[in-house]
Amino acid sequence: MSIASSSSKKESKADSQRLRAVVDRVIDDVRPSKSEIDGVIAISNNIAARIKKLMPKDTELVIVGSMARGTQVKGSYDVDMFLLYPRNFDEKLMERMTLDIAKKIIDKNKGESFTIKYAQHPYARINVGGVDADIVPAYKINSILEKGTAVDRTPLHNEFILSHLSARQKDEVRVLKAFLKAQGIYGAEVSIEGFSGYLCELLIHTYGSFEALLKAVVTARLPWVLDPKESARIEPQSETASKLVKKFLKEIVVIDPTDSNRNVAAALSIESFSRFVLAAKKLLATPSIEVFYGKGYSDAYAKNKLERIAKSLDCDVYTMAFGLADIAADIKWQQLKRLNRSIQALMKKNGFAPIIALQDMEGDHGILSYFMNRHYNGSRTVEGPSVFLKGAAELFCKVHSKSYMYLDADRVMAIEKPEYKDAMELLKGINRSKEISKLSHIRVREAKFFSSTSMPEDYARLVYRSFVKKTSLRV
Ligand code: UTP
Ligand code: MN
Repeated sequence: MSIASSSSKKESKADSQRLRAVVDRVIDDVRPSKSEIDGVIAISNNIAARIKKLMPKDTELVIVGSMARGTQVKGSYDVDMFLLYPRNFDEKLMERMTLDIAKKIIDKNKGESFTIKYAQHPYARINVGGVDADIVPAYKINSILEKGTAVDRTPLHNEFILSHLSARQKDEVRVLKAFLKAQGIYGAEVSIEGFSGYLCELLIHTYGSFEALLKAVVTARLPWVLDPKESARIEPQSETASKLVKKFLKEIVVIDPTDSNRNVAAALSIESFSRFVLAAKKLLATPSIEVFYGKGYSDAYAKNKLERIAKSLDCDVYTMAFGLADIAADIKWQQLKRLNRSIQALMKKNGFAPIIALQDMEGDHGILSYFMNRHYNGSRTVEGPSVFLKGAAELFCKVHSKSYMYLDADRVMAIEKPEYKDAMELLKGINRSKEISKLSHIRVREAKFFSSTSMPEDYARLVYRSFVKKTSLRV
């Protein structure tokens, strides 16, 4: 054995020990204390007792999710209660009955609250004694073949996780959740496009531990295809992998062990996965608590900070801010994303390309913000057809008759003058576009426009926060 390899082996053993120490320390941070758990159980029992007085005869109330599985992260989880109905129950009726029951058991005088939420179907979110509980209607099924709604699988997930994870592995799930939270990629909602709780559980089951998972992802290749039932990664080049990629139309596939037709990673974007890969590399190279949790940042004086960033990049920051309707966050986010896409397409068409584009929302406010090169000159070349194509060149020349034109080999090229003075003028023009009439939940017509120097602090905070989130890679 050469000296080099023996010393690197020693080094990797030391790194491994250091990582273990980090993981153990994080477990202390994220495992809820016995008294926290007892408190939440007491409140859940209280809620359950109230529901049981009102629920129909042949229904069953079960607690599922991370609390039932022992994979919850201290201080940041909900209680997931499922009201299970016989399979022949009418779906609309079971939704209505569940919402009614949840509403009735709430005592507003005690500060308890009730809201209706929508995932794949409606459910109730109540708050009792400071604890958030989701009351979700679903069908009671024994086999996945009986599935009626998207959440019917959940009790099956419970069974799988409870029978496949050891106590240590449950703690490792908590560590994984905390690591992902620190990078803003925990959660399957569309504004995060990250890892769901169930996906975290399956990843720890498949690889055995947090450390083994990190070691696996740093050498991962796309497509990344896993079959947790067999505790196996499927070779990216294999026929099985390419079949699954085609089946789910995704480059990241984690087959649900309770339902082979479901990709548990359906909501995970390649960007979020890549963020995880970078962070895994960094943590393995430098195992420390600081790297695990990342640098914190303060969003105080956000406007000043943004101005400094803009100045250092020689950019202007143009921001559009608007009110948002009071509907499900996922829907608002999707509409913001659509508007963001059409603005960027229009920018591209006009020879602007933002250095960075940001999107964020908080409650009923949303922002789109663009860092634009200050030295923009909107003149650009438009490539036309070949003169040998019948009629096409003539048509092109007619359309561009006001422009300078020249030939590049057999192609006609036109030099177009800018349609907009700057990106701000383009943004303001978006009000006139047809596209926005489809975005019913964004008040585009009442949008406000700001440059980096004119932005109120409240909006600057949103812009700065999303800039930091987007650019804080663990490298
Ligand atoms: P949660 O979103 O509450 O996840 O959904 P969780 O596992 O309890 O994680 P934390 O700790 O609260 O963040 C509860 C369960 O509902 C199922 C999963 O089995 C999940 O564990 N579920 C949730 C789905 O099947 N599909 C979904 O879209 C959401
Ligand atoms: Mn939960």
